[in-house]
Amino acid sequence: MQIDHLQFYCCPITQENLELTILKKSTKILDGIEVEIIEEGILTSGICFYPIIKSIPRLIVEAVYDYRNFLLTHLKNFEQKEKVLLYTYGNIIKQAARKNKRTKESFELEWKFFDYEKDKTWDASPQKMLDRFLLETDESNTSIQNKLILDVGCGNGLLDVLIANKKATVIGFDFSLSIEKAFEQNTNSKVIFVQADVQHPPFKKNIFDIVHASGILIHTNNTEHSFNCLTPLVKSDGKLSCWLYHPRKNFIHNCFNFIRKFTSKLPLKLQIVFHAVFLFPISFIIKKLKGNQQNWREMMVDILDWMTPEFRWEHTHEEAKSWFIKNNFSSIKITTQELFGFNIIGIKH
Ligand SMILES: C[S@@+](CC[C@H](N)C(=O)[O-])C[C@H]1O[C@@H](n2cnc3c(N)ncnc32)[C@H](O)[C@@H]1O
Repeated sequence: MQIDHLQFYCCPITQENLELTILKKSTKILDGIEVEIIEEGILTSGICFYPIIKSIPRLIVEAVYDYRNFLLTHLKNFEQKEKVLLYTYGNIIKQAARKNKRTKESFELEWKFFDYEKDKTWDASPQKMLDRFLLETDESNTSIQNKLILDVGCGNGLLDVLIANKKATVIGFDFSLSIEKAFEQNTNSKVIFVQADVQHPPFKKNIFDIVHASGILIHTNNTEHSFNCLTPLVKSDGKLSCWLYHPRKNFIHNCFNFIRKFTSKLPLKLQIVFHAVFLFPISFIIKKLKGNQQNWREMMVDILDWMTPEFRWEHTHEEAKSWFIKNNFSSIKITTQELFGFNIIGIKH
């Protein structure tokens, strides 16, 4: 994190401004220049506190649980402060921790299979990823210049670097630890990574030109509620863009959805064994027969992405349109349609 990033953040619980205490500085090469960054610190707002670890602000409501050891070591009078925090906001913190636990774990594991040196993201080369983003958001290489873009549930973070290479500033956030590798691989000063939860976004309201949520809202406990949490972040005349699964009338597809209803409830380790032994060989043979070029890790990411997340909702185009209308968005448009899902955009008024 760098000091000027503070302008974008607020407390995910109270939405108040955050104050920074720096614990440790280090350097990172960004745009070919060695710059100073904050490697460790604490962000506070009233009685709330969040650590900065490995240069990433950990702005999740449940940070007090996830980073207890760090806070115990680095925050003065931690135990006393923890009591006050939990007495005041215990319900919201416990609820977020409960709701996020399994989804965080499943995506953390999924992204561990991804090799930044060798693998493609969702079967796409970097150029194809950028083209897909521009098509989905109805933007162009030039129209995104100097824009402030929020990438919601950014996963491996590779798209964010590609967008920033076109001179946009991009904040990518994800609540899983995939954010750490995303941060490590980035060398563009216009990309910022934060650990955050879409249902408690720690960002100032009305500041983003484009908020893009690709394949994430459908993995939360309530897609429409998550959508509603994003609308305040978009600035007036700004754009909200979402990629969502739609229902399919396909026997195999619905069989997989039926299987995952049961398997996704198993302990994660058991799921991995199950999918590696049963689904992976079938999927591998079918894909190879169809001439698919994916390597085994890419195939495994696909399988885990479908089978392991606790939630995986499918929505009709009309349903998604109604969310935009209820939030007073206009120029609502389906920009892309694929086998599994579609992208929809709207402009805020
Ligand atoms: C299917 S991946 C898509 C990643 C990326 N948007 C892409 O298109 O490659 C979904 C991502 O959303 C993240 N995610 C799921 N629920 C989230 C939440 N409540 N808050 C933040 N991120 C979340 C997961 O950790 C995962 O990395």
